[in-house]
Amino acid sequence: MIISKDIELAAKHLLNEELVVVPTETVYGLAANFNSDKAIHKIFELKQRPKTNPLIVHISSMDQLKLIANQIPEKAILLAKMFWPGPLTMVLKKNLQISNLITANQETVAVRMPNHPLILALIDKTGIPLVAPSANPFTRISPTKVSHVVDLYPNNCPLILDGGNCSFGMESTIIGFENEDVVLYRYGALSIDKLEEVIGKIEIRNHETNQIMAPGMHKKHYSPQTNLIITNDLDSDLNRLKDKNIGVITFAPKILNQSVVNHLVLSTESSLETAMKNFYDALHVLDKSKLDFIVVERFPVFGLGKVINDRLQRAAVK
Ligand code: TXA
Ligand code: MG
Repeated sequence: MIISKDIELAAKHLLNEELVVVPTETVYGLAANFNSDKAIHKIFELKQRPKTNPLIVHISSMDQLKLIANQIPEKAILLAKMFWPGPLTMVLKKNLQISNLITANQETVAVRMPNHPLILALIDKTGIPLVAPSANPFTRISPTKVSHVVDLYPNNCPLILDGGNCSFGMESTIIGFENEDVVLYRYGALSIDKLEEVIGKIEIRNHETNQIMAPGMHKKHYSPQTNLIITNDLDSDLNRLKDKNIGVITFAPKILNQSVVNHLVLSTESSLETAMKNFYDALHVLDKSKLDFIVVERFPVFGLGKVINDRLQRAAVK
């Protein structure tokens, strides 16, 4: 296994049609050369991801966007100006030359400009956009640290470009444009409130609304292998499970009615941003702790709390 900060080495791998695990501000991605179907096939194989689930194209300049997408709505340009580089993915009409492997035969393509100096430098070095899903195997927890990636691929890990811990720790927000409407496909690290300040009302069209419009709405996702319980009443659930070996995740510091060895607090100062950043790491840590159950308190239902609740709900699907 190679863990390196060497952009040139990573660029060489990509140009040789090998995969590279890349840092972004959201989560680590599993990147392939945009021009190589052979390399892109390897992403689906390594992640065991169904080919019906399309991939995000990562760019480092607006010029690259014009090679990838067509008929870009003005609202999309405005949002790009406001939030790129950053944790916003936009689903746009695709340029017809784009590989169907990337888009799962759809007429649209998902694009974002990530905000991490290493991936931006890597795209500049190769001169080629990078196709990259989150680096976790299908349905597993997304990696936000190098050690998570190492744990997820103990025997077959590609080169890891080490960019430290992901600053947001949560996947990008995905939106699309349907007629005149801006539509949310996936809650993510950029809050809806911030988007709506710029663009007005956004229609929520993710899996909760039960209209499966985009493959990204797979219900089960981001799951630990340990059973996960979401609770609104932590003390009574702890009482119910008192003979079990459990781990607990709470948003803020909290005194529990009974002693729990594995109690992780996501933010000592009750910051949803900090909690979001620490959320996947907490799941990775507890999932390795040989527990019967991971019990997580539901988050406040506003701002980034909605994003964490969305991931919790999917993590709890068996
Ligand atoms: O923060 C992120 O978005 C990370 C980092 C690595 O950039 N990437 C990520 O990729 O989360 P992935 O593949 O795990 O999730 C992308 C989601 C998928 O659920 C996919 O179905 C959806 O985006 N998607 C991709 N192309 C789409 C399209 N044309 N229409 C609708 N959804 C699309
Ligand atoms: Mg993913």
